Amino acid sequence: ECTLTLAIDGPAASGKSVVGREVARRLGIRFLDTGAMYRAITLASIQQGVAADDACKLSSLAACADMRLVTHSNGDRLLLNGDDITPRLRLAEVDASVSAVSAVSGVRTALVAQQRAIASDGSIVMCGRDIGTVVLPDASVKVFLTASAEVRAARRAAEMQQRQETFDTRQVLAALQRRDKIDRERDDSPLRPAADALVICSDHLTIEEVVCQILAEVSQC
Ligand code: C5P
Repeated sequence: ECTLTLAIDGPAASGKSVVGREVARRLGIRFLDTGAMYRAITLASIQQGVAADDACKLSSLAACADMRLVTHSNGDRLLLNGDDITPRLRLAEVDASVSAVSAVSGVRTALVAQQRAIASDGSIVMCGRDIGTVVLPDASVKVFLTASAEVRAARRAAEMQQRQETFDTRQVLAALQRRDKIDRERDDSPLRPAADALVICSDHLTIEEVVCQILAEVSQC
């Protein structure tokens, strides 16, 4: 039996997790959103008062973190040291410092090792920033999903509206651009398409159309 590994990378709010989850569901394989792991370490750093530039303490936090991903029909849960932190992963404070925390090499080394261990258990769709370039360079299919900053900000704003959160569209756009800039310009594992990635711009595509393009690519391999 052959294992299928799909890497889906792209900037913030490009639709990676919605698309990745649906592709995984249709293929009957696992899905891992690696962004949640970086968010978990960021949340722990905030709770423990560790500064976003304290590389040493952040690295040991990541190395010692006991992360468990629990798959539920009504959405996946992430347990950190036994505590269900899922509802707190999208807090504004986490959004604000996750890119700084993720730029720390020691944090990446610890999380990438866990991601590879999870992938070695069988077929999986994994989404993030460096899956095709660093985590799974031999992935069966690599996709780089993009959309213009304006479209991504509008989608993020719509999600916030649905959750009845208050927001300012210009601030949502500025926050996305700030995070993308840090993710693109960092030295370790910057956000960029792998040389062999299929690049999909979703500005004028529905979720279903993106899912179908990816499934077509999978059926060719
Ligand atoms: O995908 P999401 O927006 O939840 O990711 C949050 C942050 O985690 C990103 O902005 C990036 O800084 C970091 N990240 C990363 N590498 C990954 C996934 C996420 O550096 N593979």
